[in-house]
Amino acid sequence: MNRTTTFRCWFLRGATLPTVGAETVPTRYDVRFVLDGGVHSVTNIDPNTTLLNYLRDTLHKTGTKEGCAEGDCGACTVVAASLTSDGNVSYQAINACIALLPALDGCELLTVESLASSNNLHPVQQAMVAAHASQCGFCTPGFVMSLFALYKTVADITRQDVNDCLAGNLCRCTGYRPIVDAALDMRSLGMAIPADERSRLNTPAGHGTDDTHIVAMLHALQDEHTLQLQGTDIDGATRSLRAPRHLSEAYAFLETTPDATILAGGTDVGLWITKQHAELSNVLHLRNVDELRKIEEHAHHWFVGAGVSITRLHETLRDTWSSLDELWRRFASPPIRNAATIGGNVANGSPIGDSMPPLIALGAKVVLGSSDGARTLPLEQFYKGYRQTDLRAGELVLGVNLPKPTASQFFRVYKISKRMDQDISALCGAFAVDIQDDQIAECRIAFGGMAAIPARAHGCEQVLSGQVLDVVHEQPDVLESARTVLAADYTPISDLRASGRYRQLVAGNLLEKFLLELAECT
Ligand SMILES: Cc1cc2nc3c(=O)[nH]c(=O)nc-3n(C[C@H](O)[C@H](O)[C@H](O)COP(=O)(O)OP(=O)(O)OC[C@H]3O[C@@H](n4cnc5c(N)ncnc54)[C@H](O)[C@@H]3O)c2cc1C
Ligand code: FES
Ligand code: FES
Repeated sequence: MNRTTTFRCWFLRGATLPTVGAETVPTRYDVRFVLDGGVHSVTNIDPNTTLLNYLRDTLHKTGTKEGCAEGDCGACTVVAASLTSDGNVSYQAINACIALLPALDGCELLTVESLASSNNLHPVQQAMVAAHASQCGFCTPGFVMSLFALYKTVADITRQDVNDCLAGNLCRCTGYRPIVDAALDMRSLGMAIPADERSRLNTPAGHGTDDTHIVAMLHALQDEHTLQLQGTDIDGATRSLRAPRHLSEAYAFLETTPDATILAGGTDVGLWITKQHAELSNVLHLRNVDELRKIEEHAHHWFVGAGVSITRLHETLRDTWSSLDELWRRFASPPIRNAATIGGNVANGSPIGDSMPPLIALGAKVVLGSSDGARTLPLEQFYKGYRQTDLRAGELVLGVNLPKPTASQFFRVYKISKRMDQDISALCGAFAVDIQDDQIAECRIAFGGMAAIPARAHGCEQVLSGQVLDVVHEQPDVLESARTVLAADYTPISDLRASGRYRQLVAGNLLEKFLLELAECT
């Protein structure tokens, strides 16, 4: 039986009302989003249903394609439009293949079928035609939707913007030049549209549109209700998904359902469904919990909520650490970064996750919470073994406390992967030193990809502490000893991304690169 048959036979049965303590929580049993100008309500849906399967199998909107089903190729790219905190609309590309349908709750869904109007192609589509950029055709809808998000977001589009935007759309037939040409031309085609033919979607960013109608529709979808999907499939197996609005309710759900799968952006969890064919029985979806989506600035640190997307984190901190700017830009691709959360990256505990080495080097602490209260741990102490963390039953990652940089801090992070874009790290090294009296007063080094967990290089840190800034030229023996001790700090494995020997060698080279940059910049 295929998945389509399974969820067609899905029905709501015996849904109990969620409670927090003695109080019943207002609950809604449908996923609601704007589609084709109206509110689309989905009930009786298996919580494991991906957006792509729903689009193709149920709505028969087959413009959105499936290539890899793991967020890599971009053939399934669609755009989710949502309200921003200042009341505007943001347009973000996401990968429909790994997004579960509830991820759209409260948004507008735009697919390749949404763009053309009364026989006029959208300027993005016109530009693709004019530049002969359609090529194989299969991945074209995904390219169009990524470019559409760019068209609606950036007013002065540069080649770098286009390259970044297309990092998650793979062409393996012809090449990117015609597609990049189309991207650079699409705005002028949009600007040339006569005033009476302009619509919200075909007007380029910065050109002004009347968003009142869509803003009102999106506002109307925001409510205080918990989203609950619950039912029994044809084989009698129970499945449920709950998306609460408040932490207290999330904790209450975890107490009664300790085996629940916690779902944030789904860029890891989605693959369990599409690649490992997991069928998740109970899902706690955190996307609607406002407490997890805040970034708070304090005197000496930021609190970054677990539900903050990598895109938002990147935008917030891009000017603070230039080196982090490049790391976030090379973290997966825009559609993945739009969905992926910092909490998901930290909690997933992958030894090659990109956030942890810089966060550990910068002295970040992870904040964990449950109905018993909150606790804080240095991030490096959160990892206990390969994909094992200190998260206790009933606990959630609430966020990270990230110390602000001081004037005496020098920080660099380096990602090493086979491809520049959209590739998982073979290793990632982060280095932070505090400079006092022209010496390295304190040193924190953390690597991913060098051990079963993201971990500090304690031995190497000790060798470098108290040394002069230009170790490379003034104290080559110290550099040699730091390299040797660094090699002893880790025992990396060989896998498909790199051999253990390569990792050791490159880690030493990154150390030297960092020390050279330190000497040059101070
Ligand atoms: C194509 C592709 C490319 C990728 N490239 C990169 C890359 O370059 N670098 C990189 O680091 N990662 C990469 N990833 C991995 C993934 O995007 C990140 O790990 C992401 O940050 C996960 O966040 P999420 O919100 O999607 O988590 P989810 O998939 O929702 O959850 C991930 C895990 O964290 C748990 N979890 C989530 N939130 C919480 C919480 N608040 N409390 C407790 N547990 C929680 C979930 O139960 C699950 O175990 C890539 C993934 C894909 C599909
Ligand atoms: S099908 Fe390849 S990214 Fe979704
Ligand atoms: S345009 Fe589809 S593979 Fe090149």
